[in-house]
Amino acid sequence: MREDTPSRTAQWVAAARGLGMLLPADIRIAEDPYGIAFASTRIQKLIEERRPSVLAQVPGFKTWIAYMQVRTKLLDDAVRNFVDMGGRQVVLLGAGFDCRALRMPELDGSVVFEVDHPATQEHKLSTLAKLGAQSPARYVTWDFETRAMDELPEGLADAGHDAEQPTLTIWEGVTMYLTEAAIDASLRAIADYSCPTSQLAMTYQAKTPGEKLSLAARAVQFAVARLGEPFRWGWDPMALPEYLEERGFALADDVSTPEAADKLLPPELASTISRADHSRVALAERL
Ligand SMILES: C[S@@+](CC[C@H](N)C(=O)[O-])C[C@H]1O[C@@H](n2cnc3c(N)ncnc32)[C@H](O)[C@@H]1O
Repeated sequence: MREDTPSRTAQWVAAARGLGMLLPADIRIAEDPYGIAFASTRIQKLIEERRPSVLAQVPGFKTWIAYMQVRTKLLDDAVRNFVDMGGRQVVLLGAGFDCRALRMPELDGSVVFEVDHPATQEHKLSTLAKLGAQSPARYVTWDFETRAMDELPEGLADAGHDAEQPTLTIWEGVTMYLTEAAIDASLRAIADYSCPTSQLAMTYQAKTPGEKLSLAARAVQFAVARLGEPFRWGWDPMALPEYLEERGFALADDVSTPEAADKLLPPELASTISRADHSRVALAERL
């Protein structure tokens, strides 16, 4: 990501989460009342002017909203399951403008740590301050590429994290932007601060050797590269279990976004997500 500039992709995904409100209530599977506050001023203006029909005509717009509905629902469910099992610590690694600490009542009684790049975190704090919203999250500032990841457990401990208690780490929309060195170092750091029964929920881009990228996948890659945050990393889903196991995690679940969309959304909305979409959501448990 660009130094000194809040993440543009974080702005995009927060906006798409918020724009889920344009969907009819009976098919909406995730709500983010804070997302729009992070959208570009152009999108905010169209919403204020109540012109969702203009937004609906923007190419790929419906797909983006549907995609974020599915991703948000799967990860919100991971939070609910973790809390139901008694977990009380959540780390949002690369939190961006994720407002789970504010918007999920299930997290009352839990401690949420948000780790992100200083520029993104600063923008989040000033936006929430303008809204008068007081997040109970604890903020830990980190650049995953330049600051030693093996110091993260200590950074979290300084913010009150207890490595003896189970932690759910959500690594949403981050792995694709990191170098392999940062991925490896991050997973080892997560394993280090996560005691057995802790969990890791993450999104990733599937990269199968020799596979030709679909037009839709190339369009997404082009768009994020233009925002200054090119995709750098992905896993072959067949190789993911071994990669995780070598770093102390057992893969428990791994689903592609289109597969999940088929289960969660009505067919006409699910079909806006390309069957060749490469994004996946995986859940792993600390060994
Ligand atoms: C697409 S956003 C996802 C944000 C959030 N997890 C979500 O899903 O809404 C990517 C996030 O990764 C963070 N990120 C990317 N590279 C980073 C780095 N080198 N150090 C710290 N954070 C980084 C960005 O600041 C941004 O918040």
